[in-house]
Amino acid sequence: MTFDRKIKIAPSILAADFANFGAECAAIEAQGADWVHVDVMDGHFVPNITFGPATCAAIRPHIKGVMDVHLMIAPVDPYIDAFAAVGADVITAHIEAGPHIHRTLQAIRAAGARAGVAVNPGTPASAVEPLLDMIDLVCVMTVNPGFGGQKFIDMTDKIRALRRMIGDRPIHIEIDGGVDPDTAPLVARAGADVLVAGSAVFKGGSVSNPAPYGDNIRAIRAAAEGVYA
Ligand code: DX5
Ligand code: ZN
Repeated sequence: MTFDRKIKIAPSILAADFANFGAECAAIEAQGADWVHVDVMDGHFVPNITFGPATCAAIRPHIKGVMDVHLMIAPVDPYIDAFAAVGADVITAHIEAGPHIHRTLQAIRAAGARAGVAVNPGTPASAVEPLLDMIDLVCVMTVNPGFGGQKFIDMTDKIRALRRMIGDRPIHIEIDGGVDPDTAPLVARAGADVLVAGSAVFKGGSVSNPAPYGDNIRAIRAAAEGVYA
């Protein structure tokens, strides 16, 4: 993984066909996805359950590029090695998921993955400041985590504060929740470079008709880059 601040579109497979993850991952990559965003939920930290390391292991061979694993689980630490072992490139844990985020981030890097920290809408940018030298990515949640298809919550002040705080450090700012061609320009202008999008990428398409995925990805990218197609 190399670092740059170009806009990257990361479709969330939470909005994919769960019976067809391998083909869905291949389809979104073929249609222009930069990263594949994998949402792990435990029914405890968030009120929904998705899947765990075994499913991630099954998905991994179908992803050529970056596998971006978003852990919405508590506790996190006992599972980090399992997610790293399946080949997650980025592992992101929530700052709200436990009392020792420092330890969690150290463990992610020690396991050989890039370390991300996610912040819920109610958590301020200042909470990330003590962690800046331990992270490769900060994920700003623009919905309360747990479900796809929720309404975008404007966090542009927080994104701008994080962008200033990050300075020249090689830290991605990822936005997760309610990203579509209308909201993408707001977050990109504020300093985000990785845009997660579930519903807005998968709508209208399927593995047997993947062209809409490409149209949707291009529309979000064009909006974020300020080029209205
Ligand atoms: C929400 C997840 C998101 C979600 C985004 O808890 O972390 O990744 O899938 O879905 P949309 O783009 O539909 O808001
Ligand atoms: Zn996510």
